[in-house]
Amino acid sequence: MPTPPSLSSRLPVFPWDRLEPYKATAADHPGGIVDLSVGTPVDPVPEVIQRALADASDRPGYPTVWGTPELRDAITGWCARRLGARGLGPAEVLPVVGSKELVAWLPVQLGLRPGDRVAFPRLAYPTYEVGARLAGAEPVAYDDPRDVDPEGLRLLWLNSPSNPTGRVLDADVLRATVAWAREHGVLLFSDECYLELGWEADPVSVLHPDVCGESHEGVVAVHSLSKRSNLAGYRAAFLAGDAGVLGELLAIRKHGGMMVPAPVQAATVAALNDDAHVAEQRLRYAARRDALRAALEKSGFRIEHSEASLYLWATRDEPCWETVADLAGRGVLVAPGDFYGPAGDRFVRVALTATDERVAEAVRRLAA
Ligand SMILES: Cc1ncc(COP(=O)(O)O)c(C=O)c1O
Repeated sequence: MPTPPSLSSRLPVFPWDRLEPYKATAADHPGGIVDLSVGTPVDPVPEVIQRALADASDRPGYPTVWGTPELRDAITGWCARRLGARGLGPAEVLPVVGSKELVAWLPVQLGLRPGDRVAFPRLAYPTYEVGARLAGAEPVAYDDPRDVDPEGLRLLWLNSPSNPTGRVLDADVLRATVAWAREHGVLLFSDECYLELGWEADPVSVLHPDVCGESHEGVVAVHSLSKRSNLAGYRAAFLAGDAGVLGELLAIRKHGGMMVPAPVQAATVAALNDDAHVAEQRLRYAARRDALRAALEKSGFRIEHSEASLYLWATRDEPCWETVADLAGRGVLVAPGDFYGPAGDRFVRVALTATDERVAEAVRRLAA
């Protein structure tokens, strides 16, 4: 029987598998591991969201891919209130099953093929490249997107605030990039899943009229509730922007059965209509960030960027795996910077997603 060509062979080694031995070392510490490697929320799902999920538990029928009218209203309302987006209608939003699946499968769903190109930041969340490879398209890493050759470029990813660096692109840079993408007919997707986690910067959405003007043409923002609402376990995210692009994705995703479960749709409505839990969660992360930043700097690290997001981008000017090994020996696990591209090979990414008790323990161990 002929064997089908392996899709997974197009993909890099799953990076987190390479961290396993260091995780085992850190776990052997008598005081237990402090895991600052993955940006996974550890605080409770806010009560108001849990209640909405439970209240919607009796939903025997299929949900729709486009979501309930209540969900579409909650998304457009939130985009107007929090992003300053103007005139966004229900045809300009689309729920997705967490944003990772969207990032990974977007090029396929857009019909990209070998010969097409997908560009993303040189230091980036690895799934942008994975998405390009799944479609057989060429991945292109950039320092400045406007330096990319637009020939064959079908999709441009922005990510502000950035994972892993926490860097924020200001409105002027975003506006110039949108103008460049429109001029060259390149579709621009802006991953804004850390937008509500600005510390020393106030992140601006690509949907703000100062950036995209009065039209959303050629521009789509990606938002996730995983980080801002501690909902990584629910898989709740959405797109907002160009109606033509979202209409095409809706058609494809309907055929593919890519539906957000009905109780999660109800929970997302509650989460988007409540700003109080976001403010509360921000305070927790701000305190952890201050404590970790001070402890890292005192123990010889330099922090770059990190003005927003859930991470500190730290270096001791040595190869990242040396830093990872040293910290693992002290029971603290961090992510090596080269997970996010070779340009990160002298940095580590330190996540703020550990309990206050574990963060205090990390601070003690860094001081020792
Ligand atoms: C930049 C970026 N985009 C997307 C995601 C995916 O988040 P989710 O699938 O939970 O929405 C992450 C997760 O860490 C991320 O860092």
